[in-house]
Amino acid sequence: MKLSPLSCVSVALAFSIVHTFRYEDLVEHVNSHQEQYVEALREWVAVESDSSDVSKRAELHRMMAMTADKLRAMGGNVTMADVGEQELPDGRTLALPKVVTAEFISDPQKTTVCVYGHVDVQPGKLEDGWATEPYNLTEINGNLYGRGASDNKAPVLAWMHAVEAYQALNMELPVNVKFIIEGMEETGSNGLDAMIVAQRDTFFSDVDYIIISDCGWLSPRPALTYGTRGNCYFSAEIEGPKQDLHSGVYGGTVIEPMTDLIGILDTLISPSGKILIPGIREAVAPLSEEEKKRYQDIEFDMENYKNKLGVSQLMYNDKVELLSHRWRYPTVSIHGIEGAFSASGTKTVIPAKVNAKFSIRQVPDMDPAVVKKQVTEYLQSVFARRKSPNKLKVTMVIGAKPWLANTHHVLYEAGKKAVKRVFNVEPDMIREGGTIPIARTFQDVTGKGLVMMPIGGFDDGMHSQNEKISRYNYVEGTKLFIAYLHEVAQIQRSRV
Ligand SMILES: *[C@@H]1O[C@H](CO)[C@@H](O)[C@H](O)[C@H]1NC(C)=O
Ligand SMILES: *[C@@H]1O[C@H](CO)[C@@H](O)[C@H](O)[C@H]1NC(C)=O
Ligand SMILES: [Zn+2]
Repeated sequence: MKLSPLSCVSVALAFSIVHTFRYEDLVEHVNSHQEQYVEALREWVAVESDSSDVSKRAELHRMMAMTADKLRAMGGNVTMADVGEQELPDGRTLALPKVVTAEFISDPQKTTVCVYGHVDVQPGKLEDGWATEPYNLTEINGNLYGRGASDNKAPVLAWMHAVEAYQALNMELPVNVKFIIEGMEETGSNGLDAMIVAQRDTFFSDVDYIIISDCGWLSPRPALTYGTRGNCYFSAEIEGPKQDLHSGVYGGTVIEPMTDLIGILDTLISPSGKILIPGIREAVAPLSEEEKKRYQDIEFDMENYKNKLGVSQLMYNDKVELLSHRWRYPTVSIHGIEGAFSASGTKTVIPAKVNAKFSIRQVPDMDPAVVKKQVTEYLQSVFARRKSPNKLKVTMVIGAKPWLANTHHVLYEAGKKAVKRVFNVEPDMIREGGTIPIARTFQDVTGKGLVMMPIGGFDDGMHSQNEKISRYNYVEGTKLFIAYLHEVAQIQRSRV
């Protein structure tokens, strides 16, 4: 905060007069407005704001306009920042959805938080195996099913409802609240990095803390998230004959690209999950006793996890091993092979060119630039040993760094208090196996503290069929955000 020590006493007094926190009244307001919250979510879910499907771009633009309208209706100072165009693989360009920012400044002397969220979604089609229409919010047994419900539309709305609740009760916001809402998160936040850099000394100049609610709990117990893995995504292309060949006519005479490719892919990771690329395991930060203890304390049901995934055996049978390999160790996943024969039937083709996609989840202290070099050199050397005449090209297409916060940071202490107030339990302190690259950008560019406060449920199925958020998480999550704004204001008080 920007106060001299001398002015602190009087300011602290002034705060306690202006800001009386009537939590019970706020809770009552939220309880009596939950039908409106569900209707707001229904309206948002109905917009097919799939950022990966360029044919849905008009819907995405409409979604950004609706977001801006909602914030304007709440009395915020709203802008829609143009972040340029996206280049499509065929060379065409397409306007990116605008990034919506909003400001609710109650007093420039107060702490300012900035809530980040996104309103684009993953694809969702009934024929992918949804039990309900993905874009028609449907309530079944207290769960609200719909694409984007949990990731990230309900959490974004819950933040708005939190601000609205204070407004409705004529209570001054305990901290100033800003929003930054984008529409390209699911495809890599195209344009956002540059926008954050450009607005570092304007929109972000008075922001003290950044809050992200774009993830979920680990179990029925509420959680705070203090780390995410990054990702290095590779493509390994092997090119051989100038066209596809018939295996009956040419099989046995040519060295097949697919055989080469499977051969080198098999050298990435052992059956027991050990990464075989030299240098990667050595770069991983050692597991401390405190961290190990934290994993032991986490509520996590291995059987339930196994059943949810429909597998008979996991890579590790021990909770600490399993959680640490989910969050704080790297792994290799092979995603697919372009150019391979993948349709049904028995075509006897020898593909001329195949391109494997695989990725390595990044953790501290790995560095994507180093990983790129390690992977490229290793695969080239493995390939060279095969003495194949085919050509191998390795490219790293994404290089996202991991993110890690200090769980004793004031933002996390405030989060624990807010969770305690609303749910009457201590939160699980968890990490995410996935990547939220923008967290790293926020931190690196603005230098501000960042907290991840999820309200999504552990079984919400973000990115898969039958995504949902429970009414409970949506409504109680709104209360959590209300309580958190209050707790963040207390950080200042205890500091002055
Ligand atoms: C909007 O901006 C104006 C001018 O800077 C400022 O006086 C006002 O307090 C702002 N309103 C909100 C809600 O932030
Ligand atoms: C959504 O589903 C409900 C219930 O099944 C149905 O009545 C309604 O017509 C559907 N709405 C749309 C827009 O498809
Ligand atoms: Zn998300």
